[in-house]
Amino acid sequence: MHILHLDSSVLGAASVSRQLSAGIVARYHAQYPDLTIVSRDLASDPALHLSGAHMAAFQGAVVDDATMMADLIKGNSYMDELFAADVIVIGAPMYNLSIPTSLKAWIDRIAIAGKTFQYTATGPEGLLKNKRAFIASARGGVYSAGSPAAALEHQESYLIGLLAFLGITDVTVVRAEGIAFGPEAKEAAVSQALKDIAAIPA
Ligand SMILES: Cc1cc2nc3c(=O)[nH]c(=O)nc-3n(C[C@H](O)[C@H](O)[C@H](O)COP(=O)(O)O)c2cc1C
Repeated sequence: MHILHLDSSVLGAASVSRQLSAGIVARYHAQYPDLTIVSRDLASDPALHLSGAHMAAFQGAVVDDATMMADLIKGNSYMDELFAADVIVIGAPMYNLSIPTSLKAWIDRIAIAGKTFQYTATGPEGLLKNKRAFIASARGGVYSAGSPAAALEHQESYLIGLLAFLGITDVTVVRAEGIAFGPEAKEAAVSQALKDIAAIPA
C-alpha cells in the first residue's frame, strides 16, 4: 500500500484541509502499518506555472536554465509519484470558488495525453487504473448540493471530474464547509469531517 499525500493550503498549521488530509493518511496508516507515504506540500514547494519554455522543453528543446531544469525534474517526479500510488489524498481548500493555483500547477504536470489519458475514436480515456482518491475539502461558505451557492462550486466538482478524466472514479470527499460562519460552525464542520474519516473503510 502506497499513499501520495498532497496539501495545498497556505495556512500551515491553521489549515483545516491539512488537518483532514493528515487524518485520512493516519487512518490508513493505522490499518496498514507497512504503508509507505510520499508527501508533497504544494503550497511551500509549488511547480512553476506552465510557460512557453515548458512547452518547448516538452517538444525536446534543449534546456539550459537551471531553474527550468529543476522544475521539469519536479514535474517528472510528480508523475512517477502518481503512478506509484494506490491511494491519493488531496488536501484541497476552496480558493475563489476553485482550487489553489499550486494544486492546479500539479495537475498541469500530471494531466498529460499519452501518459495519464489518451484520445480514442470514441473520446478520451483515463489511463490511471486501480487507484482510490480522497479529497480533503475545506471551504468558508456552504456550496453543497441544494444550497443557494451550489452553482458556484468549482472545487470538489472540478477535482472529481479531473480524476475521472484520468481514470480514477473511486473518489471520496471528506468535507468541512461553512467554517467562516463562526467558531461553533467551524468546530461542528471539522468534528463531523473527522467522524467521517474515522468511518472510512480501508
Ligand atoms: C485566497 C483565499 C480564497 C478563498 N476563497 C473562498 C471562496 O471562494 N469561497 C469560500 O467559501 N471560502 C473561501 N476561502 C476560505 C477558505 O476556503 C477556508 O478558509 C478554508 O478553510 C481554507 O482551507 P484551509 O483551512 O485548509 O486553508 C478562501 C480563503 C483564501 C485564503
